[in-house]
Amino acid sequence: MQNKTFSTLFIAQNLIQLSAVDSTNNYLKLMLSKSEPLAEGTVIMADEQYAGRGQHGNTWLSQPGMNLTFSIYLRPLFLSITNQFQLNIAVSIGVINGLKEFVEEGIAIKWPNDIYFQDRKLGGILIENTISAGNIKSTIIGIGLNVNQKSFHPELAKRATSLSQILNVDIDLITILEKICHCIEVAYLNLRSGKSVEQLKFYKENLYQFNLIKNYRSDGKDFKGQITGLSDEGKLIVECEGKAHHYGFKEIEFLDNN
Ligand code: BTN
Repeated sequence: MQNKTFSTLFIAQNLIQLSAVDSTNNYLKLMLSKSEPLAEGTVIMADEQYAGRGQHGNTWLSQPGMNLTFSIYLRPLFLSITNQFQLNIAVSIGVINGLKEFVEEGIAIKWPNDIYFQDRKLGGILIENTISAGNIKSTIIGIGLNVNQKSFHPELAKRATSLSQILNVDIDLITILEKICHCIEVAYLNLRSGKSVEQLKFYKENLYQFNLIKNYRSDGKDFKGQITGLSDEGKLIVECEGKAHHYGFKEIEFLDNN
């Protein structure tokens, strides 16, 4: 189904709305494997995903019709694989800037790219890149945001939240999709025009638990540490007893909100 035109330059100008699909990321991947060219900025949105995927092979659960589950197709050929974390930064910035139009305070990015409100997860991002000659030839940016869901599975209830739980009103999904696509487009174009240093600064300013002493676990050991920054490859820098340690994905666990 094709519907209204967004006030963006290219993201979501081709918007495909599906009622149900396994995963919007998978659907885009399948479209890309066909020979017809696909417009950059194409967005696939689904009311329901029956095999939604999260980071690290996790499942992404979302109550049908209540939330945003969508994927954006981009071709960031200007970005080398060594700088691929800059894309995570730009997308995270876009999502939080879009959300800040609805929620004034308390929105943060939990490294690497979870979207938090206070100590609860509001959304997640799954970026899948295709590499060619050392650069990112194409990327599928999958975003799941809890918008109008009122309750969560008991295991998640203390760790998840939605915009309607925060604001006590329901929000039209297309309205928020348009805002977020607009803000991702702005951040993406800023990245393309070389503003990665400014974006890293903004990302750090909006990083969950930045500079606070909190509990973490790595290599089976629990410790108190302080997030102080990010390395060039996007590793998390955590200071513990005066020493800075660099952690990659899966190498560190946040303990205070589990
Ligand atoms: C995470 O926090 O683990 C990332 C979640 C990403 C979920 C979105 S929903 C739309 C897109 N399709 C998927 O199968 N996953 C992403």
